[in-house]
Amino acid sequence: MRARIMILLAASTFLLISTNIKAADIEAGKTKSQTCIACHGVEGVSSNSLWPNLKGQQKGYLAKQIKAFKSGSRKDPLMSSMVTALTGDDIENLAAYYSSLK
Ligand code: HEC
Repeated sequence: MRARIMILLAASTFLLISTNIKAADIEAGKTKSQTCIACHGVEGVSSNSLWPNLKGQQKGYLAKQIKAFKSGSRKDPLMSSMVTALTGDDIENLAAYYSSLK
């Protein structure tokens, strides 16, 4: 009986924790990426040698670069204007989407 209560407690604690941690949403990132296709290509493979591929790039790196463009610490006339409307969640979702492409 006691063991069963412990298991129940452990399971409900796990549920509580896992619902509080919001995982980045790859599908939402894909939807947001429509505006990125013009330069970074379909599925993050660019056709212009001056525009980087995003496909399969590390998630943490992508998020860091987008935040850098947003804060102005990294500047590019084309890219900087693309990120102004992105929220923190958008950035995480976009990074999750592009890093998930293999
Ligand atoms: C008008 C063209 C254009 C559009 C649209 C665009 N980008 Fe970019 N992006 C660029 C260029 C050009 C660079 C390279 C900038 C440089 O040389 O520093 C870049 C760089 C980046 C980088 C850094 C890549 C690296 O390897 O360091 C990321 C991440 C990125 N873009 C994400 C996005 C996302 C996400 C979107 C859509 C919300 C987007 N871009 C839309 C032109 C664009």
